Amino acid sequence: MRKEYKEQLKQRTKEVEDIVYSYMPEVQGYQKEVINAMNYSLTAGGKRLRPMLLQETARFFGENGSEVYPFMAAMEMIHTYSLVHDDLPAMDNDDYRRGKLTTHKKFGHAMGILAGDGLLNYAYEICAKAIADSEKPDRAAKAFRIISEKSGIYGMIGGQTVDVLYSDHAMEESMLQFVHELKTGALIQASMMAGAVLAGASDKEVEKIGEAALLIGRAFQIQDDILDVTSTMEVLGKPVFSDEKNHKTTYVTILGVEEASKRVKEYSDKAIGILKELHGENEFLMNLLVSLIYREK
Ligand code: IPE
Ligand code: IPE
Ligand code: MG
Ligand code: MG
Ligand code: MG
Repeated sequence: MRKEYKEQLKQRTKEVEDIVYSYMPEVQGYQKEVINAMNYSLTAGGKRLRPMLLQETARFFGENGSEVYPFMAAMEMIHTYSLVHDDLPAMDNDDYRRGKLTTHKKFGHAMGILAGDGLLNYAYEICAKAIADSEKPDRAAKAFRIISEKSGIYGMIGGQTVDVLYSDHAMEESMLQFVHELKTGALIQASMMAGAVLAGASDKEVEKIGEAALLIGRAFQIQDDILDVTSTMEVLGKPVFSDEKNHKTTYVTILGVEEASKRVKEYSDKAIGILKELHGENEFLMNLLVSLIYREK
């Protein structure tokens, strides 16, 4: 099963990547430098987890068509923008991402800022067009509303705000949980909830998916914090000890690696339990969620 799953993951990552790439802007015009920088960060690699979760959650509810494609691309663009800005000198100040120089290191600070802005805005352009072209515009509009809310001040941006404000200050566990839920949980929620909405899931089902996704996001960020102290730059494609460098409170600084790992398993198991109670089916999605508990990058 393990080998079979790994093969499946590789194949689906490639499929997701092809979909995302098909929405990339053409490199043209006097402004082509910023488009180059956008596409550089987007094609650098990465796990493609958010678009994959979007598609697999739609499949969980029986939708396997192309209606989800633009929203998959939008989610990966928004996620990538969050990384481009997260790496800027004013934020985490990191030089490597996805195994390559960070966008601002390669193209300069101004292009780093603009490429991030460009990715976010282009994601919205893709969503707006998808709504206009959709055969089920109500569902598409609802998905877009969730994506925009979860990316903003009540979602990812809100979490990043508190994360940077408290870079040099200690944080209580309750506030750290808030940061994790927003900076990381929110985009995972956006992906899975949008997938559910596009598949025609009920409000109750979408709410349950949101609960599960929040737990998955929390587990994912704790594992990211663990890998920051236990992994290597070669494996992660980004610098290790970035959190220590920036004096960040993490679950590792509060609980230690071992206890933090237990939380990853606990939250993931809870999330899987929620999905199992829903009326849907997707073996690959379940395997993906289990594999995230033990991820090494
Ligand atoms: C990194 O996300 C930022 C976090 C929320 C921890 P990923 O670990 O999904 O990064 P990529 O997309 O694989 O590069
Ligand atoms: C950032 O968390 C989450 C984002 C919203 C970008 P981190 O700062 O820990 O992410 P990495 O470790 O740089 O990928
Ligand atoms: Mg950060
Ligand atoms: Mg960072
Ligand atoms: Mg990190």
